[in-house]
Amino acid sequence: MYGMVNQAIEAMITEKFGAPQWELIKERAGVEDPAFVMMKQYPDAVTYALATAAAEHMKMPIADVLHAFGIYWIEFAGKGPWGKLMQASGKNTYELLAALDAMHTRIAVSFPDLAPPSFRVEPRDGAMLLEYRSHRPGLAPFVLGLVHGVGIMYGEHVDIEQIAAKDAGAPCDAFMVRTRPAL
Ligand code: HEM
Repeated sequence: MYGMVNQAIEAMITEKFGAPQWELIKERAGVEDPAFVMMKQYPDAVTYALATAAAEHMKMPIADVLHAFGIYWIEFAGKGPWGKLMQASGKNTYELLAALDAMHTRIAVSFPDLAPPSFRVEPRDGAMLLEYRSHRPGLAPFVLGLVHGVGIMYGEHVDIEQIAAKDAGAPCDAFMVRTRPAL
């Protein structure tokens, strides 16, 4: 994945726990690069190693780390020009979820080697079914956090429940998403 993803992990850990903890996590992950370069491609194994090391170091389940990182990613990516792209891609959570593939296609103009996931939405009983497909395993908790982060960005409360898991043999991960205005 692009270095921007690892930079966001670094920013999250440093903000929440401080730079010395980040150095320990990086060491535990076996990462020797002094800093990540935003536009450079790193093996996915680096990102997984960082998330795993953070979970072990903080004695947290990896799912919780990925969930927190999903929420953080929206704030992190939303700070720069990408925030405008997200806002322009939808005026609420449902609209943005429906536009995710188009949005990643726009992002790929700047990140030509992007290997983005794919999402499909379908309205269901006033809520929304969200299907998530990726060649990368284990990232469903990241998606849960991302969707919560999108809700926060729009000032909406999001209920999201995973209803199918690729890990458990389903054809893809699927979620039911329901939004309401935050109080
Ligand atoms: C404008 C904001 C965003 C930017 C700049 C962005 C960019 C990226 C980048 C650079 C990657 C790494 C992929 C690679 O390097 O090959 C990525 C992965 C990913 N993105 Fe986005 N993204 C944004 C918003 C979102 C949102 C809103 C969602 C979903 C709600 C999302 C879902 C994902 C997921 C799940 C991955 C992990 C890779 C995978 O599943 O295979 N992204 N994105």
